[in-house]
Amino acid sequence: MKRSSPPMSATMSATLRAAGGLPLATTKRTIGESMAKRRIKTLFSAISSAIDGGARAAEQERRAEVAKLRFIEGRAVPRHIAVIMDGNGRWATERHMPRSMGHRAGVEALRRVVQLCDDYHVPMMSVYAFSTENWGRPQDEVDALMGLMWETIRSDVDRLHKNGVRLRHIGRLNGLAPDVQEAIQWMMDLTRENTKLELNVCFNYGGRAEIVDAVRAIVASGVTPETIDEDMISCHLYTRDLPDPDLIIRTGGEMRLSNYLIWQAAYAEYYSSPRLWPDFDHDDFVAALDAFSARKRRFGKTDAQIAQEAQESQNLPPPAQTAQQATGLAEQTSQPYATDGAGASAGAEGSLSGSRAKTAVEGVH
Ligand code: FPP
Repeated sequence: MKRSSPPMSATMSATLRAAGGLPLATTKRTIGESMAKRRIKTLFSAISSAIDGGARAAEQERRAEVAKLRFIEGRAVPRHIAVIMDGNGRWATERHMPRSMGHRAGVEALRRVVQLCDDYHVPMMSVYAFSTENWGRPQDEVDALMGLMWETIRSDVDRLHKNGVRLRHIGRLNGLAPDVQEAIQWMMDLTRENTKLELNVCFNYGGRAEIVDAVRAIVASGVTPETIDEDMISCHLYTRDLPDPDLIIRTGGEMRLSNYLIWQAAYAEYYSSPRLWPDFDHDDFVAALDAFSARKRRFGKTDAQIAQEAQESQNLPPPAQTAQQATGLAEQTSQPYATDGAGASAGAEGSLSGSRAKTAVEGVH
């Protein structure tokens, strides 16, 4: 496998440059509010000059940055977004192209949205690139998706690695062609230590298959039925070390989970965008974040309890000193994403998977 990739595209390097002035993604807001406010003001005056000068592209770029800073200022940002990238086929058909061209355009959209996650401080994204059910598609489409996976790893992973992105595969490696398996293993090994942004590629993934694999592993471990609880099942899923998704975005106007992260999505906020995936852009992404920040997440509790918990979380010590970490039992995944303003409702409770114990499960990928 070649380790070098082609030069970064002009569009991508421009967006990376545009994001260069911002700090890395974290679960908490990292920009001082007053600094962000000053920048918004400066950018607004720059927008006015741009309009005067007729520099439309520059105006749009700056407007995007204003939207970005506004989010950083007062909105809850999901810690983990999971995306069902639907609509590639329709996008291609509308253009009288083969469906595989729609998937290729889908990769471009994926590149764009990875950059948007970085811009908006979303630290983790999972994407549904090939489901266990997709094997039933016409063979040429299956071949095209397999080829695209391999090709995308070859063309993009070096650049993603240099930009601090960690790549994971979620799903069954078994059943994929050996060269695709090798490429996936290589991409995971190369980027294992990266922390800036985590991108999980769900490929040959099915939620039911995942639960079947987890149950098999639990049964094989010989535990008694009484000891099986939700945490144990979570710990045997492919996603055992990951926070549950906070927001599921599905493009293409459909309203289904389609076997995607069905266990993990139990309390995720769901957002359906009418946009076909290859056309999904900055404004669509912001609309999804907007919807998320307006949601009230209660996890089965009452408003009053949630308000109380949000209040208490303000007084908690920093993450490294929480009781969970002090006892070494669990990964810290339940920090609030925003603690004030409009964001408190969507973010104050954090993810339910925070108490998940870290257990290595051999043989489950
Ligand atoms: C669903 O749209 C999309 C897929 C089954 C594949 C998604 C793959 C990509 C976006 C490419 C990224 C892939 C890699 C390899 C990283 P659809 O084809 O069902 O669309 P339709 O509903 O319009 O037919």
